[in-house]
Amino acid sequence: MKEIDAQKPVNATIMSTVDQSGTFVLGDKRVKRLGYGAMQLAGPGVFGPPNDRDSALAVLHESIASGVNHIDTSDFYGPHVTNQLIREALHPYPADLVIVTKVGARRGADKSWIPALSRQELIDAVHDNLRNLDLDSLDVVNLRVGGLERPSNTSIAEYVAVLVELKRNGLIRHIGLSNISQTQLKEAQTLTEIVCVQNLYNIAQRDDDAFIEDLTRQDIPYVPFFPLGGFNPLQSAALDDVARSLDATAMQVALAWLLKRSPNILLIPGTSSLQHLRENLKAAALRLPADAVDTLDAIARKPEQETQKHI
Ligand SMILES: NC(=O)c1ccc[n+]([C@@H]2O[C@H](COP(=O)([O-])OP(=O)(O)OC[C@H]3O[C@@H](n4cnc5c(N)ncnc54)[C@H](OP(=O)(O)O)[C@@H]3O)[C@@H](O)[C@H]2O)c1
Repeated sequence: MKEIDAQKPVNATIMSTVDQSGTFVLGDKRVKRLGYGAMQLAGPGVFGPPNDRDSALAVLHESIASGVNHIDTSDFYGPHVTNQLIREALHPYPADLVIVTKVGARRGADKSWIPALSRQELIDAVHDNLRNLDLDSLDVVNLRVGGLERPSNTSIAEYVAVLVELKRNGLIRHIGLSNISQTQLKEAQTLTEIVCVQNLYNIAQRDDDAFIEDLTRQDIPYVPFFPLGGFNPLQSAALDDVARSLDATAMQVALAWLLKRSPNILLIPGTSSLQHLRENLKAAALRLPADAVDTLDAIARKPEQETQKHI
């Protein structure tokens, strides 16, 4: 394993940049709003070992050394691979680190994503996370309900009840929800406290605008997945123009727009590249002028002409 000391020293500028993203309470800790999503660390198709193991470990080391204290993961990334890399790179974990994992799916041998929401599958998934992260208790577990299609309003009470039981047993400290609708959040809140919502949202995919307003009122973090467009990174002439005018990159502008969008938005951009990690972490220092925000807001209003949204 490559030691962090062997890496290029972390630039103090990056550390102060992450701090500039601000903070918000997630579960029982206050985290920086700019975090890191670990999904890209597994092999191609989020399956199997990484192409470059040393680089994957270096990305984790540098994210923490740069001040990130919120990492999003799941045991079905790999499967098991991402959590095992996190454990190898970061255990024993820094006291301020919040690791958020998710349950509700499993992987087929053909790399498919299969719903796994039965009582036993949820229990097994929590134990897989505990074992592979080497923890006695998980900070936050997101119940991932839907896939990448739009969330529905079908009842999730049966699944949430299983996590409530595991929380009562001390295996989970906090429960979040992923790929859900506002109706499903309301139902879950009758059963337990929900500490975060993780849905698909970015500068071009804004189906959750009203949902975000609702969560802002409730002081609940909203954690957009695919903040950079996911498997098909965002492409937009307007985004490029704004980036050029600010001497920034398109990805930095996309992240800065999310930070500005609402104070309860927490970012978990994913990357397997140190260069991209460094670029993304600098986004918190980027201030968007009002005319740039107007231009960026318009991207979601003209999806067909300008923005590829084929996520
Ligand atoms: N709840 C769910 O169902 C769900 C679904 C998907 C993801 N997630 C979570 O959300 C996190 C973020 O999602 P994501 O990683 O899929 O998507 P993302 O953050 O929107 O984008 C990641 C993609 O953008 C590329 N990228 C990152 N930084 C870049 C940069 N500065 N310039 C150019 N390309 C860049 C990455 O490639 P490189 O590796 O080459 O940088 C990767 O292909 C994941 O890590 C995961 O924890 C949750």
